[in-house]
Amino acid sequence: MKLSDAIASRRSIRKFTDRAPTPDQLMQMFDDANLAPNHRLTQPWRFYVLGPEARAAYGLALGNRKAKKATDEAHAQSIRQNTSDEHRAQPCMVVVSTLQNENLEIREEDYAATLMAVQNLSLTAVALGLGTHIRTGAIMADPAARAAVGVPEDQRIVAVLSVGVPLEVPDAKTRRPASELTHWVD
Ligand SMILES: Cc1cc2nc3c(=O)[nH]c(=O)nc-3n(C[C@H](O)[C@H](O)[C@H](O)COP(=O)(O)O)c2cc1C
Repeated sequence: MKLSDAIASRRSIRKFTDRAPTPDQLMQMFDDANLAPNHRLTQPWRFYVLGPEARAAYGLALGNRKAKKATDEAHAQSIRQNTSDEHRAQPCMVVVSTLQNENLEIREEDYAATLMAVQNLSLTAVALGLGTHIRTGAIMADPAARAAVGVPEDQRIVAVLSVGVPLEVPDAKTRRPASELTHWVD
């Protein structure tokens, strides 16, 4: 597949088949992620492939946060259970973290490089006939979610990805053309 075709056809996939990506497919995605540019060759990215128990625990952490908005305990409990079950049922979840260097400049570069790695793995997924959906948010710093992933203290979670065989591929979202966002500076 041509790179430009992979870029053009990539979508955030919300519905997957039950089939999990193979370890070889995942390793190809991580190998390509590992080739992302990174200043000082820090290779700051770390990849965590969550099994069903870890996915359920992560989902429970998310469910606990969502349940705070529930009006009664029965509703709260169903939110917790459903969110946990939905995550357990995902074909595959990959969490990407980055090393937290004590130097701010290096930390920012490492964060940026790690998201470039995420883009690489997302495009390789497309080339393999797979799809991804990146999720972020305050959950990434939640101690229960971090514990579910097993991420150590010196790492920051930067993206939580669902990975699998797309069941539905949404239409491309309308975007402003790049020409409108480009400045040619003399
Ligand atoms: C850094 C980053 C964080 C994102 N976080 C979320 C998220 O928390 N929840 C979500 O539904 N989508 C999230 N997305 C997916 C975007 O919403 C999606 O890329 C955007 O709507 C464009 O759609 P497309 O990926 O299909 O082109 C995230 C994407 C990126 C790059």
